[in-house]
Amino acid sequence: MVAMVEGETARLMKINSGISASEMERRVVRYADLRPCYNAFIDTRSPGSEKKENFTIIGPGVAENPEQYVHITEKHGFNIGGARQPPACVNSQHSHDTAEVFVVHTGNWRFNIGEKGDDVQVLAGPGDVITLPTNMFRGFTNVGEDVGYLFAVLGGDDAGHVMWAPYVFDMAKDYGLVLLENGELIDTLAGQAVPNGVQPMPRTTAEQVAKAYIPTLAEAESLIWRADDLHATSIRPIIDPEGPFDWDHGFTLARLDLAPYDVLPNETFEYPEVLFVQSGSLKLEWSEGELLLSKGDTITIPIGLERKLSSDSGVSLYRVRGIEGG
Ligand SMILES: [Fe+2]
Repeated sequence: MVAMVEGETARLMKINSGISASEMERRVVRYADLRPCYNAFIDTRSPGSEKKENFTIIGPGVAENPEQYVHITEKHGFNIGGARQPPACVNSQHSHDTAEVFVVHTGNWRFNIGEKGDDVQVLAGPGDVITLPTNMFRGFTNVGEDVGYLFAVLGGDDAGHVMWAPYVFDMAKDYGLVLLENGELIDTLAGQAVPNGVQPMPRTTAEQVAKAYIPTLAEAESLIWRADDLHATSIRPIIDPEGPFDWDHGFTLARLDLAPYDVLPNETFEYPEVLFVQSGSLKLEWSEGELLLSKGDTITIPIGLERKLSSDSGVSLYRVRGIEGG
């Protein structure tokens, strides 16, 4: 944890201590209010992928559709998104320039690694966290029997563009979607045309594919933090210099559990901080009010706000925090 500069903390606390309940509510994205995009990416009409829902909760992430709704636009130094897919629905093979981390909120998922997704495959279930390195083709399939939801974190304010596996470009052509070199998606079936002076994104080359990292099965397994049934009050660092994934992601991530009626002492933090409720319900109190968060809800805490976390029912949370220069 970064030590606070006393003067700066006092300044931020003064700014944020008067935050009203309605202002705080605007910093909450409730699961029930998530606005999906069904055509966020080039692969969204390809058979097997057309039912995926994509969410941009904090920041635009890597969405290719400029019309996608971003719930919270304030810069955090990282992007938070979500993916919801029915059984058997596939997110196609792609790579990122930044760290990409998934927390499995619901469902059972197979993460498919390699150009075509069949080089290495690992399974993850509710509460598990997987960190996926840059320059590695990955996709994921809901292999459970119910709709599943993944909470996603991408490093940086600008998460760059997705590098799709070559086959994804080929499939998209059959369904009228063209990805431009500036990362935007054009829907020719909806009458959109490629603007003058803008070229389509070149198909990913065999050379680029050859440079991508392919882990062994053991290496891929080592990228997963497995959730357990321990719900005793605890803060467990996961992506953190003190955690199992101690390399730089541009943010830290921890699992917080509060047993019923337990309270975390008042605290402030001088960088962006986002809480995501995995299960149970969370009470957040500050000098001007309090609010309750339920399973699947996300909140971004005002920087420097003194607040207390508690739960009458018990709660499991994931906490994403910005880091200096992150
Ligand atoms: Fe991704």
